Amino acid sequence: MPVFPNIRHRRLRLNERVRRLVRENHLSVDDLIYPVFVTCGRGVRREVPSMPGVYNLSVDLLLEEIKNVEELGIPGILVFGVPEEKDEAGAGAYDPDGIVQQAVRVVKKSFPDLLVITDVCLCEYTSHGHCGLIKGHTVDNDPTLELLAQTALSHARAGADMVAPSDMMDGRVAAIRAKLDAEGYADIPIMAYSAKYASAYYGPFREAAGSTPQFGDRKTYQMDPANGDEALRETAQDIKEGADIVMVKPALAYMDIIRRIKEEFGYPLAAYNVSGEYAMVKAAAQLGWIDERRIVLETLTGLKRAGADIIITYHALEVARWLREV
Ligand code: PBG
Ligand code: ZN
Repeated sequence: MPVFPNIRHRRLRLNERVRRLVRENHLSVDDLIYPVFVTCGRGVRREVPSMPGVYNLSVDLLLEEIKNVEELGIPGILVFGVPEEKDEAGAGAYDPDGIVQQAVRVVKKSFPDLLVITDVCLCEYTSHGHCGLIKGHTVDNDPTLELLAQTALSHARAGADMVAPSDMMDGRVAAIRAKLDAEGYADIPIMAYSAKYASAYYGPFREAAGSTPQFGDRKTYQMDPANGDEALRETAQDIKEGADIVMVKPALAYMDIIRRIKEEFGYPLAAYNVSGEYAMVKAAAQLGWIDERRIVLETLTGLKRAGADIIITYHALEVARWLREV
């Protein structure tokens, strides 16, 4: 093997043309999914305090926002509901006229080609803020499955193109797959939040969605941040149960997990660049401490390099614009 001075790595970094030629990974608008928070009423546009540029939108203003999504060529959105009312069993989640179901119907009517993916969980709809039914001090796994399946079915009936269960109950992918298949929705894919960690990075999201647990935490169902092998077991299980796309969440502190899952399964893989990751960048950018655009593009390119095929990010609109400029 020749060594220096025969080998000079800097030759292939000499100018942008040659760098382009040998570039290994590319961030593209095709990779992006834009998460949105839909709420009740009309003319509502409430900025989330810890997420500058992210809003709770009523359906009418959501349509305005989606115009931008479509114009920029972003393939799809991930819809979260912020309901007016909550109860013990999260009935709003599987109400055929719930906030997400209404929004999906309207959005698909105006933008039939837009990929509308719905988050399937109960925490935005339960008075206690947990992702399932409560028994004693914890979430009761098995009775929750039917409610999650009902939620997914109601989204499919409203016209959702894909469902994304984020609850972390055992067996939810199988329960949702069986329900969708039995009701004539065998072609609706499931994007499973497979390796979802009990993370402090969800803080701003819980402010946006009003879904902070009223007691305890989510550590009995979401994964321990210290674990890596377990993420492979979770993902293997979801794939066995019928997941079409698997997900790692959060993204930045879990790039090793992204890489391991990609290598182990070779499955379509989404990385969720979560609310806390967004908030940190926005805060530092507002203080003038970082170059926001370069930081965001570097981070998301890093997720591609780690092995992500799909990136769910609140930066999607600005990234799509930046990618047009470069
Ligand atoms: C709800 C859900 C959460 C996120 C997506 N779906 C929060 C949580 O589990 O508490 C987090 C998204 C983000 O932080 O951007 N199950
Ligand atoms: Zn939840």
